[in-house]
Amino acid sequence: VYDTPELTPTGKTPDCAIAVDVLRATSTIATVLASGGEAVQAFSDLDQLIEVSEKWPAEKRLRAGERGGAKVAGFELGNSPLDCTPELVQGRRLFISTTNGTRALQRIQDSPTVLAAALINRAAVVQYILEKQPETVWIVGSGWEGSFSLEDTACAGAIAHSIVEQSQLSLEELAGNDEVISAIALYSQWQNDLLGLFHQASHGKRLLRLECDEDLKYCAQTDILDVLPMQQEPGVLKSK
Ligand code: MLT
Repeated sequence: VYDTPELTPTGKTPDCAIAVDVLRATSTIATVLASGGEAVQAFSDLDQLIEVSEKWPAEKRLRAGERGGAKVAGFELGNSPLDCTPELVQGRRLFISTTNGTRALQRIQDSPTVLAAALINRAAVVQYILEKQPETVWIVGSGWEGSFSLEDTACAGAIAHSIVEQSQLSLEELAGNDEVISAIALYSQWQNDLLGLFHQASHGKRLLRLECDEDLKYCAQTDILDVLPMQQEPGVLKSK
């Protein structure tokens, strides 16, 4: 599903909601937590981020802001996962606001379980789903300002594909769920060239214009981080 009023299912929240923003917010969140960050606190609003983070000890915080792919002036970081080295983030909380990814997290924050997934930590998310077997799961693509994105759909497909394979479900059992079937088909077509897919994607092209080629390469890797970012309180994700 996508983070839009039209497409996000309404009514009952799922048992488990997974936010996906491969380029780049959930890749950054996974990287920070894998690098020893204390937590990531996500905001849709920049002013609110500043207000809350000011109450946190300065030496224990980092502030990351991105709009339109670019770093927000006055913030220590933009949204490049490659900046989130252990030397920088160890023991610190990352306060982050991005154009779409942190907004998607906010939209699902009332679900009993909220996870952040990217390709780089796909296996950890799949393992959690297979172990806990939540009855209802949403995989929520952040997209771009309310619209579809190739990279988030491919990541949703990567998650679903792995769940189907490992639980030996037949594709027949997904019949009727057009979104999951098409996400799996997209992933299956591009699984050996996810970077190539990013180069076709509108946000991939935006990031290439901003010279973020290395971020694309990093985010196109699958299953490289064994980290499960899970919401502990609204907006605050820690490594489970
Ligand atoms: C977003 O939230 O839209 C993104 O993560 C944008 C980006 O920094 O690439």
